[in-house]
Amino acid sequence: MALDMSMFNRFAVTFEKGDIIFCEHEPGDTFYLIQSGRVQIVKIMEDLEKNLDILQPGEIFGEMAILEDSPRSATAIALDPCKLLEFNQENFEVLMQGNPQIALKLLKLFTKRVYDQKRRFMILTLEDEQARVADVFLMLAETQQRQLNDNDERTFMTSVDDIAHWAGMSTDKVRQILNHFVAQRRVDIFSDRIVVKNINDFQRFVNTRRK
Ligand code: CMP
Repeated sequence: MALDMSMFNRFAVTFEKGDIIFCEHEPGDTFYLIQSGRVQIVKIMEDLEKNLDILQPGEIFGEMAILEDSPRSATAIALDPCKLLEFNQENFEVLMQGNPQIALKLLKLFTKRVYDQKRRFMILTLEDEQARVADVFLMLAETQQRQLNDNDERTFMTSVDDIAHWAGMSTDKVRQILNHFVAQRRVDIFSDRIVVKNINDFQRFVNTRRK
């Protein structure tokens, strides 16, 4: 089925920097493809605003409410002046059929979301809290898409808060565990990054705790 590309003009919407595109818990029947500008996805957890992701042009968001028939799972904010294409349930099907590129993008996105959820669950099922923190680094290493090698030093542009979020633990507890890793010379902490000296050592450590 051919898609009339001019139809996309009908879906174009713009937002100013700082505009809230939609709020968590709102009902939602639209999803968006970013044409220009960045969109931040945030969630309020324990009274704090947590950054879930910063999405770039070409990425899609707002698909969960439409597909799961549920309220918005997070808030979307325009980080820059943004041009978006907005789609609703009615044009969803026609778009999927007529635009394999967007259908493929959505498929990849769902695969990633399912993978992320499964991976998070694996982390949370570890009883040993040190292993849980180590497993967060392994998860971050997987997103770097490089094979784990021995003596493989990895740098992660992440914060203690983010690790606490993924590990399902308090920031204080994670800081305590990271300080322990620093004392063991397994990790170095900087203001903007955390360096794991040998990621494979963490892999072995987590494997022993998973049994
Ligand atoms: P929806 O639930 O409709 O509205 C919030 C959107 O944020 C959601 O769809 C996803 O598109 C996006 N989103 C939710 N959770 C995450 C996450 N962990 N990382 C990136 N994007 C997310």
